[in-house]
Amino acid sequence: MLRSGLGRIGILGAGLTGIALMAAGCGGGGGGGGPTVALLLPENQTARYETHDRPDFTAKLKQVCPKCSVLYSNATNDATKQQSQADAAMTQGAKLLVLDPVDAGSAGSIVAKAKARNIPVISYDRLITNSQIDYYVSFDNARVGKLQAQSLDARLKQLGKAAGPIIAINGDPADNNAKLFKSGATGQFKTDGVKVAKSYDTPGWLGSNAQNEAQQAITALGKNGFAAIYGANDDMAEGGIAAMKGAGIDPKTRPTTGQDAALAGVQRILAGIQYMTVYKAVTKEAQDTAELAGALAQGKQPPAGLVNQHLSNGKKTVPSVILTPVAVTKSNIKDTIVKDKFWTVSQICTSAYAAACKSAGLQ
Ligand code: BGC
Repeated sequence: MLRSGLGRIGILGAGLTGIALMAAGCGGGGGGGGPTVALLLPENQTARYETHDRPDFTAKLKQVCPKCSVLYSNATNDATKQQSQADAAMTQGAKLLVLDPVDAGSAGSIVAKAKARNIPVISYDRLITNSQIDYYVSFDNARVGKLQAQSLDARLKQLGKAAGPIIAINGDPADNNAKLFKSGATGQFKTDGVKVAKSYDTPGWLGSNAQNEAQQAITALGKNGFAAIYGANDDMAEGGIAAMKGAGIDPKTRPTTGQDAALAGVQRILAGIQYMTVYKAVTKEAQDTAELAGALAQGKQPPAGLVNQHLSNGKKTVPSVILTPVAVTKSNIKDTIVKDKFWTVSQICTSAYAAACKSAGLQ
């Protein structure tokens, strides 16, 4: 568990026990002298968590609650570890949990423990199903899948391959979002008459698993037996692209989808290796969550207008903040990702991408 007092950023080793943290002066009351907010993220293989979610949340919370401190944990894809991290955070005096669950179902027991201690829980990015969560902040995730499929289907039509077939590399089914992405995409493939020849759910959202799945599919279908790869996020896309390269297929000839607008994904799009990604304004997601967390931690009402939907999680109707995802191909990187400063031109356009950046109007 890493803890950063917001007044002074101090990072302690991941293996420290609660006692060690207390001894280091970071106990119950919080490093900033005010309430402690626990931020519990699910994994660190996908770039967004350490490049955006964590720093963007922390910076905004400092603004809205200067005395608050963030107690940060990353579960590295291990649901049991996340349980212990949540227990430790509560023992350490966390007044609020911002929880992005590894497992949508089993995280319910974390919520039950928090409720027993009157600690509010914000379900962050991924929904914690069938539990008494207080708020949910995320994107329209079925729409993410729909956008991916719409964009891919249109490209297949341009290529004269309107019916596919395609290989689908979905996310981890323990993540409620993965189910929504998959159903959003599958529905659109059906509507457009695109055949999904092979479909996989990818444990832990790991790129290495995605690569193995795509390899299996290519072996079964043959090099010319598929027209495109549906990748649920940019890491799934990367795995699919690696499998194509390994099989001697030029990935430029098979459009591949992604999600997250990861820096590497955006660069692959510029190079023509990946067809599209879905940009989600994660900075706004993290900032809205920090606004909510800052208010709750100080016993205030959340800012008016922040909550924009009420959604069921199977147990209750949850006040929710739902943001809108955007499909991004080479033609609109500038008007979305760059405009929002999600990545700057100099971050994207390193020397290897200079020519591609020029032709996409970025430089
Ligand atoms: C998030 C995606 C992310 C994936 C893997 C999903 O729940 O919404 O942005 O790529 O998890 O961590």
